[in-house]
Parts: sequence; structure tokens; C-alpha cells
Amino acid sequence: MTFGRARSERKVQEAPGAPGAPARHVAIIMDGNGRWAKKHHLPRVIGHKRGVEAVREVVRAARHMRLEALTIYAFSSENWRRPEDEINDLMGLLRAFIRSDLEEFVANDVRLKIIGDYGVFAPDIITMIDDALARTSHNTGTTLAIALNYGSQQEIARAAEAAARKGAVTVEAIDAELDTADMPPLDLLIRTSGEVRLSNFLLWQAAYAEMQFLEVLWPDFTPAHLREALDHFATRERRFGGR
Ligand code: FPP
Repeated sequence: MTFGRARSERKVQEAPGAPGAPARHVAIIMDGNGRWAKKHHLPRVIGHKRGVEAVREVVRAARHMRLEALTIYAFSSENWRRPEDEINDLMGLLRAFIRSDLEEFVANDVRLKIIGDYGVFAPDIITMIDDALARTSHNTGTTLAIALNYGSQQEIARAAEAAARKGAVTVEAIDAELDTADMPPLDLLIRTSGEVRLSNFLLWQAAYAEMQFLEVLWPDFTPAHLREALDHFATRERRFGGR
């Protein structure tokens, strides 16, 4: 008996995967702000502040490197379990980040996108985000997707439910309902700080992604680390289940 090669219509499986093909979509779990602060005998909030500075530089680098999409895990659906003070600090940093960097996104062709449910955030943050989304929606350079109140299992459950409502629970139908539906397939997932787990981030999207777990703490992550990760990615042969 012979088996024909299944031709999947999934965009992720159509990607050539040849060595040397550049990554289009990179995602980062930005871990280690707290440990960075501890190491430097500073309050945790300073670690998060330095983390935002690292975000700024990495977004600039992603644009220069012509990445199509960068997805960053800024606030998970589980982060609500942190002390109230820390949650307030993170919300304050999010406000400050949008306020200070939005003009740069507008000017530099960065399209902002949110994955996750930011509808539960404070009304002023929701308004700021909606404004930022509207003002960058026509940009066609790098898409910066910020994961806010994001949980991958919840996203998959929602997507499956939506697909079922429309009548077909297939891989393609679920793909089309995910928050990332309008983004290129995820090529590379990076986690900093030496932890080796996905923490409910892009579980579905990571099906064929390369993963790199780096020792560097997030505030120390620089564009050079991103360059190195992308160079390493380009040497990998991706087989998408084939041989
Ligand atoms: C992990 O550090 C990091 C986070 C909680 C999320 C990342 C948040 C930022 C980089 C700042 C906010 C971002 C934006 C875009 C405004 P951790 O506190 O878990 O570190 P630890 O594991 O060393 O304690």
C-alpha cells in the first residue's frame, strides 16, 4: 500500500522550512525581571522598568531586522495572582510605555496588536490601547503583538467554541479563530532567564516553532541576543513532521 503525501492547507505546514529561511514571527517570554532586580539589590519595580527598556530596544531591532511580527508576553491571565502593588506597577508601566512609544510606532510603521482580553483593564488603559490600535492599524511594517491578560488554553477553548458554532472543528477552523489569526505562523519562541516551560503562552501556535531557552535575564536582553537567536534559527532545518 502506498500513502500519498498529505497536502495540508495549513499555512504553517506550507512554509518551506529550508535551512537559511529567515524567521517571520518571533515570540518572547520575557522572564527574569524580578531576579535581575534582586541581583542588583533593587526593588522589583526597577526590574520591570528595565524590562520595558529592553522591550523598546528589541522592538526597534525587530523593525530594523524586518521581522514581520514580534509577540511579547507582557501580562498573563495568571499574573493577577501577584501582589496588588506589583500589578499596579505593571499597569503603570504599560500606560507609560504606550504614552511614550506610540508616536514612534506611528512614525516607524509598527502595527500594534493585542492578544488576550484587555477588556478587563482599567478604563483609561482600554481607551489608550484602542487609540493606539486605531492609530497604527494601517501600518504594514512589523506587527508588535502584546499579550495582555492572555492565556493560551483559554484562547484555544474560545477558538474551538467559535469554530464549533460555525460548524467545523478542524485545525484550520481553530487557527482562523485564534487571536493570532492574522499573523504569520510562529517560527521561533524565545524564553529568557533559564526557565524551560511555556507558561500557557502560544501553546497551539508553537506546534512547529523552534524554541530557544536563554540564560540571560530579560532586562539584560539586547538586540544582539535577538540577532544571535535569529541567526541560529536560520541554521535549523525544519521538517514539519516530514523527513
Ligand atoms: C517576568 O518577570 C516578567 C513579567 C511579569 C512580564 C514582563 C513585563 C515587562 C517586561 C514589563 C511590562 C511590559 C510592557 C510592554 C509595558 P518576573 O517578575 O516573573 O521575574 P522573576 O521570575 O525573576 O521574578
